[in-house]
Amino acid sequence: MQRIFDLAMEMPVCFNLSLGEPDFNVPIEALSEGWREVKSGRTHYVPTNGISPLREALAEKAQRDYGLDYDPASEVLVTVGGTQAIFIALMALVNPGAEVLIPDPGFVAYEPCVLLAGGVPVHFPLPENNGFKPSVTDVTSLITSRSRVMILNHPNNPTGSMLSYEEVAALAKIAVDRDLTVISDEVYEKIVYDGAKHYCLAAFPEMRKRTLVVNSFSKTYAMTGLRVGCVYGPKDILSRLWLISQYVVACVDTFSQYVALAALRGSQDSLLQMVKEFDRRRHLVIERLNEIQGFSCQLPKGAFYAFPNIKGLRTSSEELAELLAKEAGVLTVPGSSFGANGQGYLRLSYASAYNELEEALDRIEKVLRKRG
Ligand SMILES: Cc1ncc(COP(=O)(O)O)c(C=O)c1O
Repeated sequence: MQRIFDLAMEMPVCFNLSLGEPDFNVPIEALSEGWREVKSGRTHYVPTNGISPLREALAEKAQRDYGLDYDPASEVLVTVGGTQAIFIALMALVNPGAEVLIPDPGFVAYEPCVLLAGGVPVHFPLPENNGFKPSVTDVTSLITSRSRVMILNHPNNPTGSMLSYEEVAALAKIAVDRDLTVISDEVYEKIVYDGAKHYCLAAFPEMRKRTLVVNSFSKTYAMTGLRVGCVYGPKDILSRLWLISQYVVACVDTFSQYVALAALRGSQDSLLQMVKEFDRRRHLVIERLNEIQGFSCQLPKGAFYAFPNIKGLRTSSEELAELLAKEAGVLTVPGSSFGANGQGYLRLSYASAYNELEEALDRIEKVLRKRG
């Protein structure tokens, strides 16, 4: 992945389809609210677990979206994006040598965070022929007496897959039967298509007490640079994350928390517009990719990534990403960056303007036609 970013620095014209961030802006009203608070002098430390109105708004959201009651004082923690939430969750849950089940392909931070916590990452596959979703048989076969934690992520980065009610229920049952704690990374929950419904893992029977739900404002409100996320969980576990947070960040940026609060409490029109536009781009990108010889791509149900199978081109993911960067000026991410099972795939983000996507796809097609 670093190689692709290095190449980007050398490229004259560059279409960057490698980034995991919306090209939209934070709702302006939300920014103004944040600025108003800062101007009125709110520039000091705030509680480690987050400003209370934001925790309260997040607790209301959990009730509204998942039907779950979380105590805003002790069961909601505001974090520096989903990234910090994942890291401190693993630091709190994993003892040296403990095995942590992680999806493969999966978000790039999982494995390094498990290793930093002293754990052993155990990859479970998301096979393409199962819609890039984990199978109960695969996951169960990887559980040992050392397994402690399972990380789930849906809608999924990098594949865009989503789990049905029955599929989440089946994974939840494994966690209950095998006494696993689950870190459920749901940062793309609002970016879903065709009326698909997102099911929060903690809302399944017996799951609330063993699940940490990770969420973020980064994707939903196009706030990647403001760094606000959160984690919901039972008090006994969350208190440990809170303690770690105290020593690694002290508190989350005050301005950003007020922006997040205003975004959550305000009109959700920008979010709806953004998802509508992503949907339009999704159809463009998937249709165009499927027209290119050697590519085949499933229609993602959530997030904003296409994850085409490129095995027909008889080249590795890294080589193809490098070729496209050098010759087409289009940056993509090799599927192998997301785990060994990502080899033979490429990740393209469609969080770029429609006309840029069109041009990037023209260029990809041209380079591959030339290559033969
Ligand atoms: C699956 C997943 N989880 C978590 C994150 C972390 O995002 P942030 O720290 O900006 O909330 C990302 C970012 O790309 C992601 O794709």
